[in-house]
Amino acid sequence: MRGRRSIVTLLAALGLAAAGVAGAQAVDGGAPAGSAASAAAPAAAAAPAPSVAAGRRAYTSYCVRCHGINLVVGSSAFYDLRSFPATDKARFLHSVNKGVRAMPAWEGIVKPDELESIWLYIGSVNGWPPDA
Ligand code: HEC
Repeated sequence: MRGRRSIVTLLAALGLAAAGVAGAQAVDGGAPAGSAASAAAPAAAAAPAPSVAAGRRAYTSYCVRCHGINLVVGSSAFYDLRSFPATDKARFLHSVNKGVRAMPAWEGIVKPDELESIWLYIGSVNGWPPDA
C-alpha cells in the first residue's frame, strides 16, 4: 500500500513537474519569438548591403535617361561615365549628391546605399577591379 501510494505521489509529482516544464516552455517559447521580432525590426529597417544588382536597378530608375544603360549616350553634353576615374569615388559621391551644372543634385532622392550600389554597378560595367 505504502509503495503504491508513493508511486501515485511520484506520478502526480511528475505530472506537475511536466506541466511546470510545459508552462515554462510556453513562456520561454513566447519570449524569444517576441524578442526576435523586435530584434528583426531594426535589421529590416537598416539599409541593404550595396550590390551590383541593386545598383543596376537604381541606375535604371534615376540615371539611365541621361547617361544611357551602357554609361554613354550619343551627346557629349552628358558625361560619359565610362571615363569616370575608378579611383575617385569621393568625387563621384560629391558630384551626384550635390549636382554638377546641368546634372541635378540627387541627395535626398538617391539613398546612400543606392548610390553605393550605383558605384558598384558603374564599376562592373567598366570592368574596374573590385577594390579600385
Ligand atoms: C537630367 C539628366 C541627368 C541625370 C538624370 C543624371 N545625370 Fe549625371 N550628369 C548629367 C550631366 C549633364 C552631366 C555633366 C555635368 C557637367 O560636367 O557639365 C553629368 C555628370 C555626371 C557625372 C560626372 C561628374 C563629375 O564629377 O564630373 C557623374 C559621376 C554622374 N553624372 C552620375 C550620375 C548618376 C549616378 C546619376 C543617377 C543617380 C545621374 N548622373 C543622373 C546629367 C544627368
